[in-house]
Amino acid sequence: MRYIGNKTRLLPFILRALKKGGIAVGSVHDAFAGTASVSRALKAQGWRVHSSDLLMSSYVFQRAYVVADSADPLLSEMAKDLAALAPRESFISRNFSPARGGDGGEGQGRMYFTPANAGRIDAAREELESWRKAGKVGEDTYYLLLAAIIEGADRVANTAGVYASYMKRWQPNARRAFEISPEVPVKGSQPARAHLMDAIDAANTIGEVDLLYIDPPYNSRQYVAYYHIPEILARGWAEALPAIRGKVGLLAGEEGRSHWSHGRRVQKLFSALLSATTATHALVSFNSEGHLPPGALLSLLTKASADGKVTHFSQRYRRYRADSDRVGRHYHRDIALEHLYMVRLR
Ligand SMILES: C[S@@+](CC[C@H](N)C(=O)[O-])C[C@H]1O[C@@H](n2cnc3c(N)ncnc32)[C@H](O)[C@@H]1O
Repeated sequence: MRYIGNKTRLLPFILRALKKGGIAVGSVHDAFAGTASVSRALKAQGWRVHSSDLLMSSYVFQRAYVVADSADPLLSEMAKDLAALAPRESFISRNFSPARGGDGGEGQGRMYFTPANAGRIDAAREELESWRKAGKVGEDTYYLLLAAIIEGADRVANTAGVYASYMKRWQPNARRAFEISPEVPVKGSQPARAHLMDAIDAANTIGEVDLLYIDPPYNSRQYVAYYHIPEILARGWAEALPAIRGKVGLLAGEEGRSHWSHGRRVQKLFSALLSATTATHALVSFNSEGHLPPGALLSLLTKASADGKVTHFSQRYRRYRADSDRVGRHYHRDIALEHLYMVRLR
């Protein structure tokens, strides 16, 4: 899924750093799991994975891509059935799509999904919930299908990559039909556990692990505001309608908001996390475009290090940035530097 900070393309770099650092396969806490890309790769390498994140959408990915070990043999049939349902006009249609027949002009609703796709997404999300309630799907299958609905909706979302705003004209991807393509779970030799929880609280409850992987937000962006629609899809609306507000329908309330996005608190939070963990080693992903200066990170890691040493790895990578200010998707290619720091904590 398109997600700021998604490490999918940096997985070889992360795995190489672990190897170069002499870290043997063991147990790991991926404290800011996001799309669960790192947890998933480590599970495939034989690690026993604990993952955590504040967002329900991340929890869905952790359950689908890391915890789930096997899929129902009928998984693709079920996905096809969900995608083929007659459209329904429910929460997504009412709040994130222009009225049927409207062209989406001012005052006709938020243009995140075409009315046809919004109706399909509503139908699939509601039907899946009723399958779960009726015991028609097991928990692994439920999360695999829910993750596929969130990813399918993301592929047809009329945005420049994040949900902070929608485009004022329908983009080619938004005109394509919503599809549900569930992934086949990764087989792992060790069971995994997902936690819908703050990183420090999770470190306190998980118990002993060998490695802590830290990939927090490094700027003031709140993920719950940039990805409010995936979050609404993850939480669902069977029990209560989500309270939303403002021009783009952000989630009202504090749930999912992170203290790590406040520049002044991040050093204290980092130190608290390093004290809370039982891990022998910590591996930190870092980019220098955020509110934590590299010198400050280095000094707090040196303080936490058992031998006073901090190992640094870096890699240049090509990234694509969407220009959200203009009509149409314009991607700029530029070169960014990704850093990893490794310390022995005990
Ligand atoms: C840079 S992203 C992680 C990306 C992830 N490694 C991936 O490959 O997709 C940061 C994540 O931290 C989560 N987050 C923010 N504050 C948190 C907290 N206090 N505890 C746990 N997760 C938090 C955000 O929801 C977001 O998913």
